Amino acid sequence: MQHSPPPPLLDIIQSATEPIITIDSTQRIVMFNPAAEKVFLYTAEQAIGASVDILIPPRFRQVHAEHILRFERTGHSKRQMGTGMPLWGLKANGEEFPMEASISQVRTPTKIYCSIFLRDITERQQIDQALRASRDELTRLSNALLHEREQEKRHIARELHDDIGQSLTALTMELSQLEASLPSNPADASGHVAAMRTLIKSSFTSLRRIASDLRPVMLDDLGLPAAVEWLISDFSSRYGIDAEIHVDVGPRCLSTLVSTTLFRVAQEALTNIVKHANATHVLLDLHCTNTKCTLIVQDNGRGTTPEHLASALPKRLGLLGIRERVRLLNGTVSIHTRPDQGLRLEVVVPLDQPTP
Ligand SMILES: Nc1ncnc2c1ncn2[C@@H]1O[C@H](COP(=O)(O)OP(=O)(O)OP(=O)(O)O)[C@@H](O)[C@H]1O
Ligand SMILES: [Mg+2]
Repeated sequence: MQHSPPPPLLDIIQSATEPIITIDSTQRIVMFNPAAEKVFLYTAEQAIGASVDILIPPRFRQVHAEHILRFERTGHSKRQMGTGMPLWGLKANGEEFPMEASISQVRTPTKIYCSIFLRDITERQQIDQALRASRDELTRLSNALLHEREQEKRHIARELHDDIGQSLTALTMELSQLEASLPSNPADASGHVAAMRTLIKSSFTSLRRIASDLRPVMLDDLGLPAAVEWLISDFSSRYGIDAEIHVDVGPRCLSTLVSTTLFRVAQEALTNIVKHANATHVLLDLHCTNTKCTLIVQDNGRGTTPEHLASALPKRLGLLGIRERVRLLNGTVSIHTRPDQGLRLEVVVPLDQPTP
């Protein structure tokens, strides 16, 4: 079989789909391939002999010339230009565009030539920008959703607590009066009244629990420390797990957003301990300085492997929700766990937050 000879180097350069430009040591263009013509809108005829400056926006010319000189002096044969930052090119019509470039040099006994290999990254930057915009939009949306959900819970909790709770209280009082005014108090009538009183009492307890689970009124009225203390003591008495708590929220007044986030994180961590840990002891530590709050919830339960956590994360909502809430506050979440060595969740949120 007969092999055709390899195409000469110049043919390869001429047919390359990316712009390739060669300049001499005085920074004059000596080679300008068709792809460069297409991108820069100069013909090779116009470009060859001109300074490479015509392809660079004026504000970058000085720096660019210094870079080329330095590169020539290093004697290195090639290098990426711009070290990861996009460079800017200038078209004949005055339009600027972002590009990536690498440079290589060839030395003859008398001359140095630098070839610059370019890639127009306008499209990639547009895609990056669209991606960033859509991520920002998602963050804004989920922020708004979380905010909306909290508002709704707060509203329902208030209604339950203030409205139905008041009615139940009034009903109990009415019942007391009715009981007092019953003639000669027949035994079965007072039996009914007693049964009704028990029913009202248990409705009251359920109502309080539902309202507090939705959003403890305490969080809005008395603040995060009281709400967290209530959460822990309720947890301990409901599930019989020994709990230790340290709270010091420092000198600053916490915003509703930060308080709600830390409260929800603690709530989910405790729910997880009930569901998964089989623990006998829990430690909750909330500590704030002037600049940040750190919340640690640690148990001595069965723990798990980091691999299991990673595989559970996309399917489960609890830890994912924690991450999302904390991310919205520019905070960090770290989880340390080993089988039979419990799980330690640590959340740090900075205190200077934009409100949603
Ligand atoms: N304290 C813990 N001890 C042991 N394993 C835990 C603990 N907390 C979480 N896990 C493990 O991590 C997994 C993910 O927790 P996550 O809260 O995201 O989901 P979930 O509690 O299973 O479900 P959801 O919270 O969505 O109702 C759990 O399924 C569990 O296997
Ligand atoms: Mg969970």
